[in-house]
Amino acid sequence: MRNSFPGEVYINGTWRPHEQAAISVFDRGFLFGDGIYEVISVYDNQLFALTGHLQRMQGGLDEIGIVFDADTLADVARQAVARAVLPAGEGCVYLQVTRGVAPRAHRFPATATPTVIAYAYPFSLKGFQDKLATVIVSPDERWHKCHIKSTSLVANVIANQAAHGVGADENVMARDGLITEGSHTNVFFIRNGVVYTHPLGPYILPGITRALVLELCKTEGIPVQEDAVCLAELNTVDEAFLTGTTTQILGIGRMMRDDETLFSVSSSGPVTQRLQEAFVRRVRALIG
Ligand code: PDD
Repeated sequence: MRNSFPGEVYINGTWRPHEQAAISVFDRGFLFGDGIYEVISVYDNQLFALTGHLQRMQGGLDEIGIVFDADTLADVARQAVARAVLPAGEGCVYLQVTRGVAPRAHRFPATATPTVIAYAYPFSLKGFQDKLATVIVSPDERWHKCHIKSTSLVANVIANQAAHGVGADENVMARDGLITEGSHTNVFFIRNGVVYTHPLGPYILPGITRALVLELCKTEGIPVQEDAVCLAELNTVDEAFLTGTTTQILGIGRMMRDDETLFSVSSSGPVTQRLQEAFVRRVRALIG
């Protein structure tokens, strides 16, 4: 489903219709991509894993030196959901904090108040178990601080477009021959019953869904190794899936590099299905 504009947008304490939601052209988010963002899923009008998202946001803000208390956005996120009309109560909340408005100069401005925006928008979160993604593999050309959920996303945008340009759903990237993550997803592999995913660190985003999947593996008794999988080993993999707030747990059907098929299955495997079911149970527990 294509995203649609939200009804209203919160900007620095005021809600405005989306057509009137505007910020200064001197905002450093606009000029430099100098900000941090979060995307949070909403099931039955309830925010999923809000605390984890706000903690990650605080980590990013602290790391890039934006002085702002992310916890204050819990109430804003709830207001966003309460003010929005989300069909079937499903959607996402977008939160963004930038360093604020100042005359353009690379160094941090001496005085600038962070610009805060938030909104909820409809997004269908159903049916992920019935789909299989086609992904391309390309070199990971991003910076070395991919753990920061920065609004500077042009490398991810280019990677994602490369996939969509050839009719694929996602671009899974590899650094020095090791698979890191997708343009907006984390990636998991299963080989001989063991779940593999790239370890945390500067080369991947510490995904909220990734963390939940690792927790579900524990409760389901599925062994995990936080080790990166080599591109060259893809032909030894039994199952693969993507995770993310808007992706949930999506089986990978095919991985391609140029015209070469590196991995191919016709349906999601048993471990992927078990984790998808456990994920759905976790969501149901949230919405009662
Ligand atoms: N993207 N890796 C990257 C590079 C991401 O941008 C995302 C999320 C993830 C998954 O993280 P999480 O499970 O916390 O959503 C991994 C969001 C959804 C986005 O940019 O729209």
